[in-house]
Amino acid sequence: MEKLWTGRSSGALDEYADKLNSSIGIDSRMYKEDIAGSVAHAGMLAKCGIISSEEGAQLIEGLGGILADLDAGTLKIDPAAEDIHSFVEAELTARLGDVGKKLHTARSRNDQVALDTRLYLKGECEKTAVLIKDVISALCHVAEANETTIMPGYTHLQRAQPVTFAHHLLAYGMMLARDLGRLEDAKARMMGACPLGSAALAGTTHPIDRAMTAAALGFETYCLNSMDGVSDRDHCVELCAALSVLMMHLSRLSEELILWSSWEFKFIELSDQFTTGSSIMPQKKNSDMAELVRGKTGRVYGDLTTLLVMLKGLPLAYNKDMQEDKEAVFDAFDTAKLCLAVFAPMIATMKVNAGNMLNAAKGGFINATDLADYLAKKGVPFRTAYKLTGQIVAACAADGKALEDLTLEEYKAYSDVFEADLYEEISLQTCVAKRVSAGGASPANIAAQLEYLRGVSDD
Ligand code: ARG
Repeated sequence: MEKLWTGRSSGALDEYADKLNSSIGIDSRMYKEDIAGSVAHAGMLAKCGIISSEEGAQLIEGLGGILADLDAGTLKIDPAAEDIHSFVEAELTARLGDVGKKLHTARSRNDQVALDTRLYLKGECEKTAVLIKDVISALCHVAEANETTIMPGYTHLQRAQPVTFAHHLLAYGMMLARDLGRLEDAKARMMGACPLGSAALAGTTHPIDRAMTAAALGFETYCLNSMDGVSDRDHCVELCAALSVLMMHLSRLSEELILWSSWEFKFIELSDQFTTGSSIMPQKKNSDMAELVRGKTGRVYGDLTTLLVMLKGLPLAYNKDMQEDKEAVFDAFDTAKLCLAVFAPMIATMKVNAGNMLNAAKGGFINATDLADYLAKKGVPFRTAYKLTGQIVAACAADGKALEDLTLEEYKAYSDVFEADLYEEISLQTCVAKRVSAGGASPANIAAQLEYLRGVSDD
């Protein structure tokens, strides 16, 4: 296929140079956006009298035909084309003759690719948002069924204070709600200013109407600096950063799912649909999907790093280095979408072993803070109450007892403020129910979180 830029040069690239230069394998997935951009551009050229209205109509009809044929699979993208922009223009010219050659008036592949990528990534943001909402819904669904399932809450991976499984899961719901917000913010900024009409770098001498194309393509307005328009890749970086944070959250939850599935915890069992066996150990049920999500997180961080390093120190305006942007940002979206698609049903179908969670909560003196609070509420200064409770814990640990196993007489030996109501105060159910401070583990707080997250996920 003849290069678009044959003229000054013969366009006959060395075989490997051609391979290095080609981006069709990556950017062909933007064919719909490339054609949408060209349709808007052709309409604007005609409206501004840069081409005739008949020519505009012919171009738009020709582009529509190419889109329909690509969608139907009757037209195949030529892998020998340099990129999707060259392919569409060459196909249009093959179909329309000389009129096709007018499409590129007042335009460059530099503003074209900057536009196509934004339009394509807008769609990716929307698809990813739906998948994030599905995971939030799944978390809400399991949380709702486990509003009274008591488990140990941990700090330093040491049993700390009792919480409910609902409270623990909804913490991830909150993280994902912020991830949704980050994607939305990045998308809005990306769609704030349209680069089309920046042309190669300095704009054009043709009397174009940039506001018209910007509006037709769903942008708020057009970018004010044409050099910025063709060389800005902030949106790719921002989106990869947002996806990196999202993956970090999924990775943290994956780690917990893996731990909770272990024989050491046995808090949950993942469905057979999301686990694998071992080729040699017949007893194994491995949490491979959660492990892969944890592993793929590194890959998305890599995509972000690729972009940041590629852009660092690049002079204005367009440089071919920037062709590397799409592979990285597309990979980040592909990876995140696949992980999210696995995550929602994996969460929704997991079996929760409430009994094992409760048993774990019964060990480790996780009601010790509540015993100290009991004393503090009776007027003992908290630091004194803390120390006294620590001594009681040490004695119980030495005797292999839990706090609730001591008799009232034994308690009274430590302090005469202890009364029979202490047992109610340190029961695990009370410890959770009385955490009524806003955002705490109490049932009313769970209800508030569920209501908020259901709103976020349109559930
Ligand atoms: N394939 C190129 C890219 O993805 C399109 C822009 C090419 N522009 C140019 N001046 N060679 O960046």
